[in-house]
Amino acid sequence: MKVHGKPMRSIWVEPDGAAAGVIDQTRLPHAFTTVRLTTLDEAAHAIRSMLVRGAPLIGATAAYGVWLAMRADASDGALEKALTVLRGTRPTAVNLHWALDEMRRALAPLPASGRVAAALRRAGEICDEDVAINRAIGEHALKLFEAAWEKKGRKGRLNVLTHCNAGWLATVDWGTALAPIYLAHDAGLPVHVWVDETRPRNQGAVLTAWELGQHGVPHTVIADNVGGHLMQHGEVDLCIVGTDRTTAHGDVANKIGTYLKALAAKDNGVPFYVALPSPTIDWTLKDGVREIPIEQREGTELSDVTGRLRSGEIATVRITPDGSPAANYAFDVTPARLVTALVTERGVCPASEEGLLSLFPERRGK
Ligand code: MRU
Repeated sequence: MKVHGKPMRSIWVEPDGAAAGVIDQTRLPHAFTTVRLTTLDEAAHAIRSMLVRGAPLIGATAAYGVWLAMRADASDGALEKALTVLRGTRPTAVNLHWALDEMRRALAPLPASGRVAAALRRAGEICDEDVAINRAIGEHALKLFEAAWEKKGRKGRLNVLTHCNAGWLATVDWGTALAPIYLAHDAGLPVHVWVDETRPRNQGAVLTAWELGQHGVPHTVIADNVGGHLMQHGEVDLCIVGTDRTTAHGDVANKIGTYLKALAAKDNGVPFYVALPSPTIDWTLKDGVREIPIEQREGTELSDVTGRLRSGEIATVRITPDGSPAANYAFDVTPARLVTALVTERGVCPASEEGLLSLFPERRGK
């Protein structure tokens, strides 16, 4: 994607290999700044404090975190420590564990002397694979967009609702749910995006709106509670969201509030699609509501709001009464029965065990 017209990814390695670079997503859209990651602790901090976020980018950053750890000490003990530290950063996105398992598979059999180069290579491959996966998801979902546009009689605009940020900032490039939006816009489809603000951290209002604006995609930010009303009035042609962990039976964990949008979509006959890269499938789980760990974060993310004052200064203000506790659940689970279809890099399938196995037959019997 492009920032101020310049192509870039959300994570990169400096040309001399001195550091990995990321965008500080906590400062967007008010300031575009980048941060250098040079140690395991810096990479872990970037994930924990959400300088980087989004399931695929969390995985990619963790992969580079292993590389950074190996630069300091490539022993077996250091590898295990790095994997443990990074696994503990955020609980819900399974891409983190997928990427760390990949790194362990690539590095553990090697002598310490070969690990730094191998870690850099495998982390780079994970990033390239993510870009290819997202591009493929975009192409498959584009066909669903085109079908919706035909169904509408090719009149007006194609209204798409999305929640949180599943764009290129959440991945290495393209995004998952936003990939077809970019492709549709570039292909001349008159796509318009309803952007859920996505309280409490406002990933929609802050990140999705910024991304879409950079690409020139028409969009409107709405409060989290508006989607149901718009659906009742025929103002949403389809919903598409990302996911942090999807079970083998098609239950989908995503940013808190996704479940309520899926309920409203079901009640109003609006298709509800989930863009699902295969590293986000947790083949070990069946029942998402009971089995997927849901992150709970600091209550201050709810009680305090950060924004730009009219003077230009960035400030954080408290909006709840002093003394009122706040519970900050970061994700919820949408049961498979509410999902119209999953869009993976291998194609579109029903949100069910059989649907996923039809696209990933190598998982049968495992
Ligand atoms: O808490 P975040 O910002 O990491 O949550 C991100 C999401 O919920 C995204 O929708 C999800 O990771 C899919 S990103 C392609």
